[in-house]
This record gives sequence, structure tokens and C-alpha cells, in this order.
Amino acid sequence: MLEIKNLKKSFYKKQVLKGIDLKVEKGEIIGIIGPSGCGKSTFLRCINMLEKPNSGQIILDDDVIDDEKKLLNLRRKVGMVFQQFNLFKNMSVIDNITLAPTLLGIMDKNEAEKKAKSLLKEIELADKVNFYPDELSGGQKQRVAIVRTLMMNPELILFDEPTSALDPEMIKEVTDLMRKIKNEGMTMIIVSHEMKFIRNFCSRVIFMDEGKIQEEGTAEDIFTKPKNKKLKTFLSKINDY
Ligand SMILES: Nc1ncnc2c1ncn2[C@@H]1O[C@H](COP(=O)(O)OP(=O)(O)O)[C@@H](O)[C@H]1O
Ligand SMILES: [Mg+2]
Repeated sequence: MLEIKNLKKSFYKKQVLKGIDLKVEKGEIIGIIGPSGCGKSTFLRCINMLEKPNSGQIILDDDVIDDEKKLLNLRRKVGMVFQQFNLFKNMSVIDNITLAPTLLGIMDKNEAEKKAKSLLKEIELADKVNFYPDELSGGQKQRVAIVRTLMMNPELILFDEPTSALDPEMIKEVTDLMRKIKNEGMTMIIVSHEMKFIRNFCSRVIFMDEGKIQEEGTAEDIFTKPKNKKLKTFLSKINDY
């Protein structure tokens, strides 16, 4: 469904992504691991062009994204969940969730509110519709942020360290919701430092370092039979998987 070809990105003179190729099939759950600063977030942000790549191609459903119309289509089909939730603090939960689909004219306000309420009910946050983000726990905020992306009926969701900002006792409510979405057939790309979660959750794992994909394989192979020297060093520093 999505193909990335020779993606490169620099900030000023520093090249952060040095040519990344990745093909994502529908229903795949891809985990991305790698040391801090190696370009994982930049890569995710380039996939939906929140960050404009310097070169390379993003191809969605066999269509190269090369004009504004296709870019809008890409943004609609590819949702993103951030470490810091990125909810609007001055807006209630329901307004946060219904903003994008109503602004883009995908749904009218009634329709959007109905869908938002039903999604919130499913995750037992129905009583929080009129709350503001600051009145919610971290886990609740992240679940609201996930519901916000679901409103757009995305085909792919990018998660950038979705549980890193959470207290430990709130991680499970977020990963449980991610599991539910996975079971419904969603395609996902997840950057995380929770190695146990990546290992159990993802069908394929990619190890990035120095702006490149250094190794990729099944979760089992990456964690039990790493070949790349940098990956071996990375895993040797982590002991939670
Ligand atoms: N907007 C930006 N301007 C300048 N440098 C940036 C910007 N975003 C990221 N970088 C740099 O790019 C490198 C990769 O960052 P990032 O993609 O956030 O890594 P990761 O998510 O793997 O920790 C880092 O050196 C970071 O400082
Ligand atoms: Mg990052």
C-alpha cells in the first residue's frame, strides 16, 4: 500500500536520512527501533510529509505523491500519533476529535460528534467528552489522540513513541487500544523504545542507525539473531526484551 524509495532528508548541512527504502503491505505492523537521534521521528514525519524530504519518493497505492492534491489524500489516509499527544489544550475532548473531519468537510458536525461519542464510549471515555486535555491522565490523553486519528478512517497509522511520555501504569491502556486497532486490520508503523512491546506486537522490525536501515526482519530474528554489529551493540545495552 505504501512504498518509500531512497528517501533523504537534511537539516541545514546535517544529513539525517541517508536513503531509506521501505515497502509496507496492508495489515503489516512494522516496528522501528534504533538509538536516540538516528532519525526515527524524522522518518515518520517524512512519510506523511509533515517534514518535506529533500529527495526520494513516497508512493501510496501505486501513486507517487507529487502534487498538493495527492498530498492531501496522503494526509487523510495516513494518521499520526505523537509522544506528546499534541491535543489542543484550549479545546474540549470532543472538539479536539471532531476538528479535522469537520474542517476538511469529511463529515458535518452532527455526524462527527456521533462518531466521536461512539468511539469514546468504546474506550470507556464517554464521560470525558467535555473535559479539557489538562483534566485527563496521560493515558487518557493518548487514547483521545488515537481516537482523533481514527475519526479520519486512516489506512495507516504512524505512532512515534506513543507510550514514552506515560507513567508505567498507563502504558497498558494505550497498548490495549493499539492491539484492538491492530486486530481490526489496521496497518501500523510504530517507533518505540519498549522492546518487549515491539517484539510481541510487530510482524516486522526495522533497526535504524545513522540515518539508514541497518537491518530488518521478523521480530524474532531481530531480537534473537541480530546480524548487524550496530544492532548487536544496541540490543546489548537494553535488557528488557
Ligand atoms: N527540525 C529540525 N531541525 C534541525 N535538526 C533536526 C530537526 N529535527 C530533527 N533534527 C535532528 O535530526 C536528527 C534526528 O532526529 P530525530 O529524527 O528526532 O531522531 P530520533 O527520533 O531517532 O531520536 C537529530 O540530530 C536531530 O537533532
Ligand atoms: Mg524521536
